[in-house]
Amino acid sequence: MQGIAVLDAGGQYCHLLARRVREVGVQSHVLPIDTSADQLAGIGGIIISGGPRSVTEAGSPRVHQSILSMGVPILGICYGHQLLAATMPGGVVKPSYSREYGLAKLKFARLKSSPTESTALFEGVPDNSQVWVSHGDSVERLPECFEVLGATEDCAVAAMVHPSKSIYGVQFHPEVTHSEFGQRILENFIRRVCRSDSSWRPSSAETIDAIKADIRTNVGPTKKVLFFVSGGVDSSVAYKLCADALGEDRVHGVYVDTGFMRKNESADVMSAYEKAGFKNVRLRDASAEFLGAVGRETNPETKRQRIGVAFLAVENDVLEHLPPGEWLLGQGTIYPDTIESGGTRESALIKTHHNRVPELLRRIEAGEIVEPLVQFYKDEVREIGRALGLPVRLIEKQPFPGPGLAVRFLCTDERATWSENAKLSEVAARFKLRARVLPVRGVGVQGDERTYAHTALLTGEYIELAIAELAPAITNSLRDVNRVAFWAGAKGSIDEFAVEPTTTTREGLDVLREADACVRDILAEYDTHKRIWQCPVVMIPLKRHGESTIVIRPVESHDGMTAQYARLPWPVIERITKAVLAVSGVAALLYDVTNKPPATIEWE
Ligand code: XMP
Repeated sequence: MQGIAVLDAGGQYCHLLARRVREVGVQSHVLPIDTSADQLAGIGGIIISGGPRSVTEAGSPRVHQSILSMGVPILGICYGHQLLAATMPGGVVKPSYSREYGLAKLKFARLKSSPTESTALFEGVPDNSQVWVSHGDSVERLPECFEVLGATEDCAVAAMVHPSKSIYGVQFHPEVTHSEFGQRILENFIRRVCRSDSSWRPSSAETIDAIKADIRTNVGPTKKVLFFVSGGVDSSVAYKLCADALGEDRVHGVYVDTGFMRKNESADVMSAYEKAGFKNVRLRDASAEFLGAVGRETNPETKRQRIGVAFLAVENDVLEHLPPGEWLLGQGTIYPDTIESGGTRESALIKTHHNRVPELLRRIEAGEIVEPLVQFYKDEVREIGRALGLPVRLIEKQPFPGPGLAVRFLCTDERATWSENAKLSEVAARFKLRARVLPVRGVGVQGDERTYAHTALLTGEYIELAIAELAPAITNSLRDVNRVAFWAGAKGSIDEFAVEPTTTTREGLDVLREADACVRDILAEYDTHKRIWQCPVVMIPLKRHGESTIVIRPVESHDGMTAQYARLPWPVIERITKAVLAVSGVAALLYDVTNKPPATIEWE
């Protein structure tokens, strides 16, 4: 295995780390924390990620001892830093008196050993630069032969090194952008400490050839691959890779119309496939089956599971008609899909992706599935798609979840009205806004945990900067609020609205489709620079005279793992509000102003 291994101690950040390594031009692999030296043969360096546990707890993640004597440079980050201290002879880690969280200044220490070896990690980094920290434990005593490289005000061992073994530990997170020279530090580790001169790119001819070679090995000389294509970039690129690797005749596609598609989506997708030269893709209308599967279910996680099972039923039906033993199933699964469903051992379940439901996991284990993009992030998949010459329509399409509009159509069994929360009102009043608790729950992610909590609804004058500051202030101070939305406009007074029991219906989906199409048209005109990465349009069961509320959720993101809400100027919000309120069945428009974390991009 070549490149850099990122050993997963359970933090979401381990995947950000893997991305940062790739940005340097080196292949990275996220692997279980206890991967052994034998399994890492050939690796150029090891990074041990942060994680939510404490090394002082029994049963917390440990590295395999064999990696410590491989002679390969190691960089431990946060939990990884403490783990090194706790694992190497003489080191001691203890809970700190106070949790250090947020920004800190990294002050370099005077070194006893050869300065060049020790300071390779901080080459070009000025003293007192800003770093981002989040930890409760600290290294209290250095392991033998280690030296302190740097400290922050609250942490005496913020960076350490074993000079002759090139083992480094940093308490801060170089992978997050709040660490001013974080990327430089990672680059120093890779280029200067590990001495890697790789120029890996996901879309280089070499990488693409390696993916195709893997496909040929996995599929074998005669079998064929069937894809359930969605019109999105992932399945399109995966399909194209397989078609190029195996020949067009050995790759077929079925596009399943779940009934949860956007307006005109199916026709547009089929014509894009035609343009891409995909000869063997056919459409199957399964809208009745999917609607039936979701039924009257209102719990988001159960809805997802049911949609997953419905996909499988359609898939099984298609597969049953194929000659046995001749076909494998192709999937466009990418890295984050496996991560957020708890795909690596240490990551907590955030939400189940439709292509990681138990039956599919069984098939993956049985070797019946081909997933050529499972090592790549979204923007890397796009890069590969461009290199393969796919039409822009398939590559540049905003990401759209597999379960489609079903996860943007919030359902509930409850009937509820507004509730005030004194603390919420007080925080909002500081910004001259009113806030109340919207009695609808949505999914979020805080730390490494999934949350299912309420939204704070702001009313008053739209002042862009105040709202940008207020939204995090609210989610930081109220535990049962993971999202904030602004009341942009409505057909009546807010007090006329209440949450009413709602289940998924074709008519309701049609209203959502119309609203979504309006928002898409306006944003396409406004966002000519494609700043907005994705804009879910969500229908929530907050109603007035039977008409529902629509939420727009424009976000800027790199890969969907983290996101900032896209700040829209008021005239654009006003235009969207006017257009969406003109759709029959819609009574109000909200604008979601939450980052990820604490809210996920989708509402469920
Ligand atoms: P969240 O809501 O988890 O979304 O912040 C991150 C990205 O993943 C997309 N998403 C999905 N994609 N199947 C998919 O193929 C799914 O079940 C699914 N759920 C969320 C979401 O649209 C965003 O781009």
